Amino acid sequence: MLARSIPLTFPQATLQLTELPLTVRRDGGGPLHLQLAEQLREGVRDGRLRAGHRLPSTRELARQLEVSRSVTQAAYDQLHAEGWIAGKTGSGTYVADVVPLEPAQAVPRRPKPVEERPLLSLRPGIPYVERSVDAGWRRAWREVSAQPPTRGYEHAAGLPALRTALAEYVARTRGIACGPDNILVTNGTIHGLRLLLSVTRRPGDPIAIEDPGYLSAVRAANSHGLPIIDIPVDADGLRVDLLGPEPSAVYVTPSHQYPLGGRLPVARRNALIEWARRTGATVIEDDYDSEFRYDVAPLPALAQLDLDRVVHLGTLSKMLSPSLRLGWLVAAPEVVEALTEHRENSGDWPSWPVHAATLAMLRDGYLDRVVRRGRRRYAERCAQVIEALSPYGEIVGRDAGLHVTLLLPDSLDDRVVAQAAEASGVGVAPLSGYRRSTPGPPGLVIGYATPTSPELHKALTLLTQVLTTF
Ligand SMILES: Cc1ncc(COP(=O)(O)O)c(C=O)c1O
Repeated sequence: MLARSIPLTFPQATLQLTELPLTVRRDGGGPLHLQLAEQLREGVRDGRLRAGHRLPSTRELARQLEVSRSVTQAAYDQLHAEGWIAGKTGSGTYVADVVPLEPAQAVPRRPKPVEERPLLSLRPGIPYVERSVDAGWRRAWREVSAQPPTRGYEHAAGLPALRTALAEYVARTRGIACGPDNILVTNGTIHGLRLLLSVTRRPGDPIAIEDPGYLSAVRAANSHGLPIIDIPVDADGLRVDLLGPEPSAVYVTPSHQYPLGGRLPVARRNALIEWARRTGATVIEDDYDSEFRYDVAPLPALAQLDLDRVVHLGTLSKMLSPSLRLGWLVAAPEVVEALTEHRENSGDWPSWPVHAATLAMLRDGYLDRVVRRGRRRYAERCAQVIEALSPYGEIVGRDAGLHVTLLLPDSLDDRVVAQAAEASGVGVAPLSGYRRSTPGPPGLVIGYATPTSPELHKALTLLTQVLTTF
């Protein structure tokens, strides 16, 4: 026999029990006690069994269903533990005082518009990520897998050995003299920025941000309730001379202004530090892609000038991949301590395996190799983009990073041009999308890192065809 079904009716002195047919299937309906328990739960949910209804004894129910008593006992034990039934051996088993919940009202949801992804993306932001696994990557993760995990709930500032290795790295590559106490390992730039803002700023504290500038920084300031003061940029980057006394902090991309590409010259850097010392403001230096320069060596980081006034944010997102979620924040030890405490209190613990793998990649020189490989690749691509797009406007930010900006004639609407490019299968970002209150020429921000070489070639051919039509 595959199934046994009985109507469950038990006369009670005070209660009329509704009829509840119970069935157990032996042909794949799952463990018998779970089948039974679920049918009894369902009986309570739909009101056929109500508070106080008496259930048969486990022995009686087992007899009727022709199952072993351990099955009915296990079902009752489960329901008892969950609070559906009450009662003790000997005094009978009753349905507990459970008021069935009204079923949730189905809220009509608007279907999400399906984002039509163009075939080829020249949007900025994502580096070239190798399609295959190389030996250095494999070695780092093999090393991680050979270690037991740390005990957990420790090292909110990052794995100690990684903090030491990163201090050496930023000293070597960015000229910042610092030690492990100056380093907080983050889940990337935006994580570091949000942590910093939430711990060191109060809602209402004004923050200056480059205009045009990085939208995620704008969003971070907005979500912490910080009024934003838009500071224009020019070919050299932030117009430091336009900073007034109000901002309590300024967010800046001095090695490669995002998205226009300017490199803040020494005189402006010194003026920025002097301004911060005078006003007591914090300078937040986003150093997102300084590893990639194709003309001269990058200037040392701003933080090198004064770690008491500057908080420096670095990331693996451009060097390796944003998916690792690994970055670092370099600051005065008091700032690192305050952020670490906040992470501990908010349960924002870092992921040990990612830290251990990053440490291995730094120590083995893997990261340096990946950066050197990337620099060669991107320098070639940058030249390719400049050659293809120069006839259509001025190209700025051409000596560094993973993107350039093509400035278009004033008569054009860059959103219309971007839409036309998208229609032809190429995604590009209109420059006006990065502007807030400072007017400027239209343009296209063109990332050249993400695609494969043949994809880049194809995307540039399509884009130039589109640009020719304007
Ligand atoms: C200006 C700027 N800063 C930082 C980042 C990287 O952010 P994260 O480290 O959070 O991935 C990006 C990535 O697109 C960026 O454009």
